[in-house]
Amino acid sequence: MEIIKVQTTSFDNQKPGTGGLRKQTKVFMQKNFLENFVQASISVRKNNGDKLESWVVGGDGRYPGVLVLPSIIKILVANGIKKVLVVGRELIAPTPAISNVIKKYNADGGFILSASHNPGGENGDFGIKVEMANGGGAPESVTNAIFEETKKISFYNSLNITDEEALKLAEVEYLDPIKDYADLMESMFDFDAIKKWFDAGHTFRFNAMNASTGPTAIEIFVNRLGAKREWILNSVPQPDFGGVHPEPNPTYAKDFYDAMMNGLAEFGCACDGDGDRNMILGDGFYVIPSDCLAIMTKYHKFIPYYANGLSGVARSIPTSSSVDKVAHKMGLDVYNTPTGWKFFASLLDAGKINLCGEESFGQGGDYIREKDGIFAILFWLNILAKTGKSVEELVREMWRENGRIFYSQYSYEGVDKEIANKLWSDMLTANIDGKVYGKYEISKKEVFDYIDPVSHEESKAQGVQIFTKDNIRIFFRLSGTGTVGATLRLYIEKFEDDETKFSMSAREYLKDVYTLVSDILELNKRFGNIEPSAIN
Ligand code: G1P
Ligand code: ZN
Repeated sequence: MEIIKVQTTSFDNQKPGTGGLRKQTKVFMQKNFLENFVQASISVRKNNGDKLESWVVGGDGRYPGVLVLPSIIKILVANGIKKVLVVGRELIAPTPAISNVIKKYNADGGFILSASHNPGGENGDFGIKVEMANGGGAPESVTNAIFEETKKISFYNSLNITDEEALKLAEVEYLDPIKDYADLMESMFDFDAIKKWFDAGHTFRFNAMNASTGPTAIEIFVNRLGAKREWILNSVPQPDFGGVHPEPNPTYAKDFYDAMMNGLAEFGCACDGDGDRNMILGDGFYVIPSDCLAIMTKYHKFIPYYANGLSGVARSIPTSSSVDKVAHKMGLDVYNTPTGWKFFASLLDAGKINLCGEESFGQGGDYIREKDGIFAILFWLNILAKTGKSVEELVREMWRENGRIFYSQYSYEGVDKEIANKLWSDMLTANIDGKVYGKYEISKKEVFDYIDPVSHEESKAQGVQIFTKDNIRIFFRLSGTGTVGATLRLYIEKFEDDETKFSMSAREYLKDVYTLVSDILELNKRFGNIEPSAIN
């Protein structure tokens, strides 16, 4: 087998964002765009002196995933990797199942071909994420080095063989990710209790959004737990997700959300394209992800895997402080990290936390280094089965005990990049302490810089935080996953202990605050009259 050096020209736009390198599919289809990034990633890991003997390749099944597998295999083998572990022949598996495989087979790292919850297909998005030996996304020190490498790359290593030959190389092994993952879940949760809950006639729906989780959901919920097959909706993975925007939130899973608000089932849930996100719904009741993390923390002892307790929990800083209330009562530490799952990894590795989550529909634990939609859903099923309460009862009870944190997240997707960058730099330096906007007075504005408590790696300017005198917290940042223009993210929270207000919708309750934020950021003046494209 001859190793060849393929000449290439570098690209200047290969800086990985919050969740790896993510671009419009047509950008990825440019000659050598993917190959350059793959070679740069391996070169950086090698330059860092990392052992690189085995490497996992997986994906969420989106186009052109499985089609680019041969060229990735060739580059890996040509760079001396002795074993390439391919996750599913069609390269369809949820991200958490891929992370599990990296850990289980002691691989030295991996690639996940996915753009998460972004639409797929030729006119959608594609992406590649570099995973470390712990099964989690590469930290910024590594992704920054990869970016530097991509700017100067002039050739990549490959093999002089056909694509068919590449798929059959002795170095390539194909794994069954579903079984490994389902076994892992079965070892952590009380499957007997959940089975009884289903046997008792409780109703359930899981929406796979035509993406990667369908087959895994059937194995776990139907084959192992006894749910009805027809309760698993949109369960056949499609390379373009059937045109669906596979983001499980009230905006993009609107039909499902509406059906659940109208009594479709007692418990409804959905996962995103690559299965690391989830949405939790009760009968006529929506659980915001921040409250979801708080409920999981509150009831963790019902989960066999967590029966001995937690050492601590973490939330990303834009996530509401709902979990803090619960955790502090239980005497648990709460860490605040920047947005992006990779920031949880060092806390998990060091055993400082065992459970964590983000407002962006993601929770997970210390058993892998990615967030995990099906894990969160099983967590809820386990709680429902053990408490005998409904989703709504569980959440309302928590509000009664701790007060309710009203919370809303507003996104402005695909806005003008230059204006957004100007807004960002203005906000970094703005001095608004003491300034009055209508009935609100700003008490403090601060830039959120983060120092990892374990690795001491510093990540500066991860967002701008603004507090008002009456304890409203506003967080503002620019998205790192969008592929067109810029995306503004606004997060607002306000604590309320007046029970008579608990039934208000967050949107209604926070209406004035939203106007305040829009004034502080001068959104209409800067962008012309813009409206958020998603409110969660
Ligand atoms: C978004 C979410 C963030 C999540 C990431 C990957 O990133 O806000 O919490 O970790 O997707 O799923 P953003 O686009 O805001 O940078
Ligand atoms: Zn995802």
